[in-house]
Amino acid sequence: MISMEFHEVTPRDFIMPIFIKEGISGKNEIKSMPGIFQFSLEEAANEAQRVSGAGIPSVILFGIPEHKDELGSAAYDKDGIVQKAIRAIKKKAPRVCVIADVCMCEYTSHGHCGMLKSQKSKVKSKNCVIDNDETIKILAKIAVSYAEAGADMVAPSAMADRQVKAIKEALVKHNYTKVKIMAYSAKYASSFYGPFREAAENAPQFADRKTYQMDYHNSDEALLEAGLDIKEGADIIMVKPALGYQDIIYRLKKELAFPLACYSVSGEYSMMKAAASKGYLDEKKMVIEALTGFKRAGADFIITYYALEAATKWLKIKKQT
Ligand code: PBG
Repeated sequence: MISMEFHEVTPRDFIMPIFIKEGISGKNEIKSMPGIFQFSLEEAANEAQRVSGAGIPSVILFGIPEHKDELGSAAYDKDGIVQKAIRAIKKKAPRVCVIADVCMCEYTSHGHCGMLKSQKSKVKSKNCVIDNDETIKILAKIAVSYAEAGADMVAPSAMADRQVKAIKEALVKHNYTKVKIMAYSAKYASSFYGPFREAAENAPQFADRKTYQMDYHNSDEALLEAGLDIKEGADIIMVKPALGYQDIIYRLKKELAFPLACYSVSGEYSMMKAAASKGYLDEKKMVIEALTGFKRAGADFIITYYALEAATKWLKIKKQT
């Protein structure tokens, strides 16, 4: 049998991550991720405009606040860095779909994705245990605050149980029924997040994230978690990382037949950049091959730090005005 199957990536498949750092002017390059920056508010809006101009439909925002505390309170401040960035981007690049990552790790002084149980008794534990019920309340508050600022979509990444449900209910309660939810459903505890810790300044101050991120020795759990997220009201489910996890992408798409994103994470980008900078292989061919693999596996959306570079250098499409 001759198959006509043909998979091809285009800029329309991409979501571009943008880091916004409070209190800086201009931009700081992230050492471990050449070509990727922490932007000031103004530069973030310019970046979003470039993304939109290159035919990429969406950006996902990560904020780095000046002020961190045990409760991550800067995350739901009306004038927080992400809230301001959403407004600035909407003004400068109104066509771009703005997705706001919802997590506490960039905002908490301990660097964990939720509120710690030990915080209540003020005992610092090595076995960090997340207070799930308190955490999802805060995540819902953050999501509503991003919706209020004008986000089109929120993306809870804390891996707290029932986070999607809590966010969905809160959005509905505040009348943000059009705001979509992209759930980080299958988020594995991965060493490939290494460079992101530099980019988002969110390294855990003690212990690690293994108690709330998934174990990569298992794939059934991904199916279970994604199924729950769909029931709780997610509009898009996500697999993260992408490279090395294509079986998970394929399985979720096949078994759940639901809109699916994958996140090609910081370490994947660093690795490819490092190899390319040594001249070991052809960067364009390598990147397009990897991205096409994600799409072939079943990803409808690809979050990649290569989005803008690939779209402007290698996959040019006719400019939309
Ligand atoms: C935080 C978050 C992380 C990433 C996205 N959101 C870090 C982590 O879970 O440790 C990683 C993305 C990347 O490595 O590019 N909730």
